[in-house]
Amino acid sequence: MRVLEVKQLGVQFSTQDGTVYAVNGLSFALDRGQTLGIVGESGSGKSQSVLAMMGLLARNGRASGEVLFHGDNLLGMPPAQLNQIRGNRMAMIFQDPMTSLNPYLTVERQMTEVLQFHKGQDRATARLRSVQMLDAVKIPEAARRIGMYPHEFSGGMRQRVMIAMALLCEPEVLVADEPTTALDVTVQAQILTLLRELQRDFGTAIVMITHDLGVVAGLCDQVMVLYGGRVMEQGPARHIFHTPSHPYTQGLLRAVPRMDRDDACLLAIPGTPPNMARPPQGCPFHERCAHASARCASTLPALLPVGGGAQALRACHRDPAAAPPAPHQEMAHV
Ligand SMILES: Nc1ncnc2c1ncn2[C@@H]1O[C@H](COP(=O)(O)OP(=O)(O)O)[C@@H](O)[C@H]1O
Ligand SMILES: [Mg+2]
Repeated sequence: MRVLEVKQLGVQFSTQDGTVYAVNGLSFALDRGQTLGIVGESGSGKSQSVLAMMGLLARNGRASGEVLFHGDNLLGMPPAQLNQIRGNRMAMIFQDPMTSLNPYLTVERQMTEVLQFHKGQDRATARLRSVQMLDAVKIPEAARRIGMYPHEFSGGMRQRVMIAMALLCEPEVLVADEPTTALDVTVQAQILTLLRELQRDFGTAIVMITHDLGVVAGLCDQVMVLYGGRVMEQGPARHIFHTPSHPYTQGLLRAVPRMDRDDACLLAIPGTPPNMARPPQGCPFHERCAHASARCASTLPALLPVGGGAQALRACHRDPAAAPPAPHQEMAHV
């Protein structure tokens, strides 16, 4: 069942420097229980894409295109109607749990209020359900700890509380923006396992943002690679990990996946991402691309199907048959 369909999503910011085109022409579709991974370096437009989907852009931002949730466009939907969906049928988790947790209220109060608001449950029923959900995300002694304030939990536990809160209403879509980046390797792995289990149990569709391809390798059905606010390559995860076709994806895959480093991907590709207020002409990646030609510097490549029937798309002028590199060893099993 098709849960979410995003068509030609764009995000623009008006700034004193002029218009920043942060996201351009992003499209994808997710069925129940499927996971899309959005990868790309810092500043490539990952967060703004999903904030736009959730109607959470900064005030100088504007979204264009369509975000269809069961066929209804969330963009331009009246706030009252949108709030029936957000935090209920569609939920979001962030890198920093304090973005969505209120420091002044106990976890119990925050969780029960969500259920009272969205599901009309009484206090006792809501409390019972909240404790169950804290159990489900493996918070020990949930019945006691639910009375604690967010700061009384460790970083990893706070992340679990946020996930429990996002999943309280059993959302059909969960959007996760680098949910494990700030955590140590062991906790990261536990949280990813947890998301997989919850997805299996609830059939949640997940949009998972990360700048680390290693994190998505075990989790995602589809992958979208963003750079400079544009899709460089997208398609089935297996296909893209085995036969990456865009030089940027190839560069990311050659990076040694190091879960303990924030900037692991940056180490692999020389240079830095473009300034989005002044994007380069042509392909946004051409200045850092080892295969760039004169055409790449002048003409933006279109996002077109590549390869036989794998539904993979790529925006690159280079001949797809030209010297495909060996896939990264640790990715090759995906
Ligand atoms: N309020 C804003 N005004 C202007 N530009 C913004 C604003 N918010 C984000 N941007 C720009 O949007 C681009 C994409 O940012 P973001 O989606 O946060 O990247 P990331 O891939 O790291 O999540 C960046 O160039 C950032 O500077
Ligand atoms: Mg971000």
